[in-house]
Amino acid sequence: MNGVTISLGGATVDPAEAASLYVELGWGTRKEYSVPRMRRSLAHCDIVVSARNGEGELIGLGRALSDFAIDTKILDLVIAPEYQRQGIGQAMMRRIASAAKGTSVYFETERKNFPFAAKCGYEKRTGLFVFRMRHGGRKQ
Ligand SMILES: CC(C)(COP(=O)(O)OP(=O)(O)OC[C@H]1O[C@@H](n2cnc3c(N)ncnc32)[C@H](O)[C@@H]1OP(=O)(O)O)[C@@H](O)C(=O)NCCC(=O)NCCS
Repeated sequence: MNGVTISLGGATVDPAEAASLYVELGWGTRKEYSVPRMRRSLAHCDIVVSARNGEGELIGLGRALSDFAIDTKILDLVIAPEYQRQGIGQAMMRRIASAAKGTSVYFETERKNFPFAAKCGYEKRTGLFVFRMRHGGRKQ
């Protein structure tokens, strides 16, 4: 976490640098994570948490939706590979939870991240599965 700063709010995040982070992680294509889409996402997410290194480069991003009353859903949290396993993800999860204080916070993730979720204080809910309709059911 040396020299890393964590901030709340999407206004300080450049959509192009955010899109690059997702594409570099292999989460999708430049089309899926285009700059206009990322701009819209950052403007509409209820909670955006970003992490920057000492040079000011974006090295982590978390996006969440919350009603700020009952429920909060973390859409995703991504840390640049060379900065993983330094406690940055956990610090960002804490920041998201404190922005959503008083709500139940849900984090959907792959099995390989179960130790991370547990370390962050999340309990696995059994018997629940994730369903997805891509692109609102429209062909792209
Ligand atoms: C999952 C992810 C966000 C974790 O962020 P991170 O900054 O690397 O995690 P931290 O360093 O804060 O880890 C905190 C603790 O979680 C656990 N943990 C994190 N990554 C782990 C791994 N790969 N294997 C086992 N335990 C892990 C450890 O207990 C760790 O503490 P420790 O290093 O003192 O043992 C990051 O690896 C990432 O961006 N992965 C790719 C994108 C992704 O899958 N995002 C999550 C779903 S949206």
